[in-house]
Parts: sequence; structure tokens; C-alpha cells
Amino acid sequence: MKSPPDPPEIVVVDEEGFVARAADEVTMRLRFALAERGVVSLALAGGATPRPVYRALADSTAGVRPDEWNRVHFFWSDERLVAAGDPGSNVVAAAEDLLVALDLPAANIHAPSAANDAAESAAAYERELRRALAVTETPPRIDLVLLGLGSDGHTASLFSDQLKGRSAVSAGAALIVATRSPMPPHDRISFSFELLEAARHVVFLVSGESKAEVVRRVLEIGDPSLPATRINSRSGPLCWVLDSAAASRLPASRRNFDPPG
Ligand code: 6PG
Repeated sequence: MKSPPDPPEIVVVDEEGFVARAADEVTMRLRFALAERGVVSLALAGGATPRPVYRALADSTAGVRPDEWNRVHFFWSDERLVAAGDPGSNVVAAAEDLLVALDLPAANIHAPSAANDAAESAAAYERELRRALAVTETPPRIDLVLLGLGSDGHTASLFSDQLKGRSAVSAGAALIVATRSPMPPHDRISFSFELLEAARHVVFLVSGESKAEVVRRVLEIGDPSLPATRINSRSGPLCWVLDSAAASRLPASRRNFDPPG
């Protein structure tokens, strides 16, 4: 009998403090993992929410030192299959916001490539992931995965279609899946539920009033029809960093404000 997942850790900060608090959370978890493991794997979330957080992490006065960044291997928890250099690419966005500033060895960047065919792109990224992590365990365990939340309850590029016919995480399943987004760009590749569940730490970064209802449905109702509700971590509690607007429909008891600093 599978034990119920640990309750999530929910950090709520005021809107002005969200970016700094989110950057602090990522920094703290990265530095802990670096101290524990020496070299760590970090999977970046796509979309708009994390972009100012990445820019804050790129600030040289941030908590991660250059010699520490050189021990971080970057992955993406999903990518849109758009032309190389397209501003809609999560890889292009992260390069602009963070990676160019960090000036990392090319060997630390494990970016998905937008092949012509989504299934081939997913398979190629899965090969790269397995090669880069060089582990025999399956699914491999990413040290820190960052995720966003769509207002329809998707996360990474796992949409409600990915829930059809699946009861739970299935052993031996693919690590990277090709999916179709209802919103353009339609063709995506994404970390699978299985790969996400194996992560050592998962942090959701969610801000804005437009996400308040879906945050309530995921965190308060536990709506199983939403992909984000189905993200569990066998390693320990998920962490949610919310600004007060995104948390505004959670009961006060769940909105434990976290003073900055
Ligand atoms: C993507 C993301 C996606 C995103 C949510 C929230 O490629 O779009 O991976 O899961 O995190 O859609 O997006 P916003 O942060 O832009 O609201």
C-alpha cells in the first residue's frame, strides 16, 4: 500500500517579494545539493513566471558562486518545438535570462533540440538525459526540478490528455514524452510524470491572480483531473513558492506568509 505523499511546503510571499524569495529558494536548494553531491542536475521550468527569477539568479551577487555554477548541469522540464532561436523556446529564454551571464562550460548545458518530429525530439532528449546523468537507475533522479503551473492545471508540458488511461506512475515508462498543447506552440516535449516523481526536489513557482483558482484546485481540492495535482515526489514534500495573488483563494491556514530574507 503506497503511503500518501507528504503534504507540500507552501511558501507565500507578497507580490513585490516573489522573485527574490523564489531565487532564494532555488539558491538554497542548489547549494544544499552541491554540498551533498558535488555535481547537481537542475531542470528549468518554461513560461514567463520564472524568467525574472532566472535573471535574479544570474546576478553575480546572488547566493551561488561561479565555481558552484560550474558544477550545475542544466536541463529543461519541457520545451516547445519551435525553430531554433525562436523567442517562444524555453531554451532561448533561459539562455537570455541566465545561461549567457553564467558563461558555463558547454558540457553543462543539456538542451533539447527541436527535431522535425516530436517523438524523435523526445527520444533524442531522453538519450541525452540518460547519457548526461550517466546513471543506471531508471528513472534517473534529477536533483532539482523547477515547474510552473498553467491556469488549466498543466505543468511542464503535461496536459490533461496525458492523464487519460493512466492510473499511476508506470514503471519503465518513458522519461521524456511528446505532447500536444491546446495552446500554441502545440508540439512539445516534456519530462514525464515518472521522471518528475523521481526528482529529489521539485519546486513550483507560481504568481499572479490568474493562477489563484487553479492553485486552489490543486492545493486545496486536490483535483485529480489536473496534471499538476498528479505530481508527487517520492523523495519528500513538494515546495510551492506563491505570491499573495496566486495564493489568494487558499484558506488563510494555508497562506503562511513567509517574510522575505
Ligand atoms: C511552458 C511551461 C509551462 C508553464 C506554464 C505557466 O513551456 O509553457 O513549461 O508549463 O510553466 O504554462 O506559464 P506562465 O509562467 O507563462 O504562466
